[in-house]
Amino acid sequence: MTHDDTFTINPIQHVAHLPFLAYKNNRLTMDKVDLNTVANEFGTPVYVYSKQAILANYQAYVDGFSDIESQICYAVKANSNLAVLQTLAKAGAGFDLVTGGELARVLKAGGDPNKIVFSGLGKSHADIAQALQVGIACFNVESVSELYRISEVAQKMAKTAPISLRVNPDVDAKTHPYISTGLKDNKFGISHAEAIQVYKLAKTLPNLEIVGIDCHIGSQLSEVNPFIDALDKVIELICQLKTHDIYLKHIDLGGGLGVRYTDETPVNLTDFANALLPKLKTLGLKLYLEPGRSIVANAGVLLTKVDILKPTEHKNFAVVDCAMNDLIRPTLYEAVMAVIPVNLDTHADNKADNKIWDIVGAICETGDFLAKNRTLALAENDLLAITGAGAYSFSMSSNYNSRPRACETLIDNNKIHLIRERETVASLWEGEHLLG
Ligand code: LLP
Repeated sequence: MTHDDTFTINPIQHVAHLPFLAYKNNRLTMDKVDLNTVANEFGTPVYVYSKQAILANYQAYVDGFSDIESQICYAVKANSNLAVLQTLAKAGAGFDLVTGGELARVLKAGGDPNKIVFSGLGKSHADIAQALQVGIACFNVESVSELYRISEVAQKMAKTAPISLRVNPDVDAKTHPYISTGLKDNKFGISHAEAIQVYKLAKTLPNLEIVGIDCHIGSQLSEVNPFIDALDKVIELICQLKTHDIYLKHIDLGGGLGVRYTDETPVNLTDFANALLPKLKTLGLKLYLEPGRSIVANAGVLLTKVDILKPTEHKNFAVVDCAMNDLIRPTLYEAVMAVIPVNLDTHADNKADNKIWDIVGAICETGDFLAKNRTLALAENDLLAITGAGAYSFSMSSNYNSRPRACETLIDNNKIHLIRERETVASLWEGEHLLG
């Protein structure tokens, strides 16, 4: 499905795929809480997450790979709210990070440093020092220069840095080019061809301990084959390393499992695990995985209100109170996300007819849209839910057009918790200075 297609999403069928959402008396509920209540209490736009759904998605990984030693490291970038991290930390999750900022968040949320892997292309000296100080499980190294940098910082601190190399297996993840990372043209990792040389170099550098090998080929993958291809390439390297007396303790296959936003049929977790397990069992190494999206995307919705309806001769625009600053995925990746009414009976009196709408924000950019060509019956003040908004939504939000960011809430046991306040306009210029 693309933005050019005109389509209708049947809300009842759509939520049938999302276990924590259901219509009760024609009102959309999350874990039995009426989403109208969340909107009334906290205003819109508002992100709403389900604690149960986050935990169920995490547990599915743990169960799927329970036959081997494994550590699921949630990719913090998908949703880094402290309460989300805390929920996962308490359940035993580890974390995959890419900045010192994410490390600080995980520690604040009670994450166990021993279960942290640190990915990312540009780890600063300070990031490395902080990670060594708290004793993380592994640095996923992305370049020769970084290898020298980690060795140098570790020497100065008289510590040993556990490292793995992130290899770029040159596998086509068959996903959007902006979120494909495992091709030789991508900036990530160390090429398959150079990996052995770099491991040999790592062996000679002081204060490094080689513990693993890592790859991450992309995000929102809908097929299992690219994962298998990447695993095969990594296994090839693990075998070659043994001939150089380099023995590893773990293999990290990154994240990337896709989710259903509208009509996708991504591999389910059991099939994913069953496809990988035979090879992993033979290997006998501890497995690390770094899922982000598949844990939180469909555990969240973004609630927004229809502000202004603007039907025109050529197109009908529904201007809603959220915008690309709250959810940049539709415009940045051409991502098609479902927009469904929170109340199914609002137009029982035929106050609004079905029309084809572009659902847009009020930002001064043509690229500011949430969805295009959707058949919906809309009236001003209608409440809509954008599903799949638990991942890469708030975490990619901005203050463009001086829009305060929306608040975040989490539902736990029928209770709505405010887990991040709505920003105020005055907070937007905190830290700015007028001249003279
Ligand atoms: N590990 C590494 C090294 C990564 O770079 C990523 C995501 C993950 C794990 C988690 O991947 P996931 O399981 O979430 O697919 N903003 C984009 C997605 C960017 C993904 C970047 N890396 C989007 O909204 O589609």
